[in-house]
Amino acid sequence: MIGNTGMRPSRRSLLTGGAALATTALLSSRSHRAGAAADLHLTAGPARVTLRDSPSPETGVWAYDGSVPGPTLRFRQGEIARIAVENRLAEETTVHWHGVRVPNAMDGVPYVTQKPIAPGETFAYEFRVPDAGTFWYHPHERSFEQVARGLYGAFIVEETTPIVVDRDLTWVLGDWRLGPDASINDDFGNHMDMSMGGRIGTTVTVNGHVPGPFAVRAGERVRLRLINAATARIFAPAFAGHRPRIIALDGQPVEPHEPEDGRIVLGPAMRADLVMDMTGKAGERFAVTDGFYPQFTYRLLEIAYADAPLRDHALDAGIALPPNPLSQPDLAAAERHEIVLGGGMMMGGDMMSGGDTMGGGDMMGGMMGGDMMGSDSDHIWTINGVSSTEHTHEPLLFLKRGRSYVFALQNNTGFHHPIHLHGHSFRIIARNGEPTRYREWRDTVLVAPKERVEVAFVADNPGDWMIHCHILDHQAGGMMATVRVG
Ligand code: C2O
Ligand code: CU
Repeated sequence: MIGNTGMRPSRRSLLTGGAALATTALLSSRSHRAGAAADLHLTAGPARVTLRDSPSPETGVWAYDGSVPGPTLRFRQGEIARIAVENRLAEETTVHWHGVRVPNAMDGVPYVTQKPIAPGETFAYEFRVPDAGTFWYHPHERSFEQVARGLYGAFIVEETTPIVVDRDLTWVLGDWRLGPDASINDDFGNHMDMSMGGRIGTTVTVNGHVPGPFAVRAGERVRLRLINAATARIFAPAFAGHRPRIIALDGQPVEPHEPEDGRIVLGPAMRADLVMDMTGKAGERFAVTDGFYPQFTYRLLEIAYADAPLRDHALDAGIALPPNPLSQPDLAAAERHEIVLGGGMMMGGDMMSGGDTMGGGDMMGGMMGGDMMGSDSDHIWTINGVSSTEHTHEPLLFLKRGRSYVFALQNNTGFHHPIHLHGHSFRIIARNGEPTRYREWRDTVLVAPKERVEVAFVADNPGDWMIHCHILDHQAGGMMATVRVG
């Protein structure tokens, strides 16, 4: 099955030419559209998949509806999503609709917004999708393991009037830690991963498969929705010979622009929508390279031009997306808060010498009962000095509904942290004191070591909302807090 089932007929005619060329592995496995009649059902459970071309052993995974990624859920902006989630895992789970501004009770946070879904049980999610864009879904219970085992999928909301492209494709980027027999290494949540960069894998997949060539035609225009579903790996794909333009970040439209150094940097949970004009010539090949960790640069895949061009000039149509209905923060009136990220193995650039000796004052305050961090404690990371390894805890901040806020995220650690706020999107207004050029809206912001990022938003969605690192081992290791909007 291919990813454009359920597309409107008017677009299908545009898609037919190119779609036939694409390797199926690069298309999403399945699509659903919520209609008046069709309620959706997702089943989380064990499955076996082949992550590489055969002959290669199968991998036992946890998956939605037996496939990795799970089915692509497609909606039109403003539609009501009704999704019953059945748990056939041997442990509790929930589903979080990452980036979708849902009512609090539908947010999928165990013990905070709902009772976790017990094995054998089903929970019915129902919410309106207010924003068009590229989102995704994943469990919020023991997510450092459940996501790493394959539980995730794309959640796409179409604009009322989509931009004109030849193909609209989604690449869900995955990262797996596999043994030689292709089975998943079960060293989840080990102290080394948790206290450093998280669980970086051995095998990168695109839509659940180690990708072959990406077949394109000269003159073609592709909208490419990139989703980083990895639990820890940061991707930074660069498209040799091409000039992709970013049209949306984390689902929210942005003034179309080329990325600064040609790389699309995506921390875990982050998305980017690109418009790529296939400006190469028939028969040519180009590498897509990921060099985020420079010493481990690798070729993600190859763009392969067919022998026959689609057209002899690039499409000449607008690519700017209409804005979503987000409340504009009032910066002059905004209340400001410091959010300090602390902990980990590196403190102030120094390696910690051992489990019981700690530097760094910001970590000390939050340790329960004044305890030092032991080498096998899970309290590794902090937000404003507090390390929260459970979803339930006292709110870090009480926000007034309708009021504008600026959060200054200060990273005092030696690692990157993709920080996600639930229930809201925020504008990135400054990095290290410099105003940003595009003031982009996001729901997850990558904060580099020692960096300070200011984000602004209106607290317009009532409830208790998580703010946490989306390196899921860091979240499990304490980099998690709640803000209460009321
Ligand atoms: Cu995508 Cu709290 O998560
Ligand atoms: Cu982190």
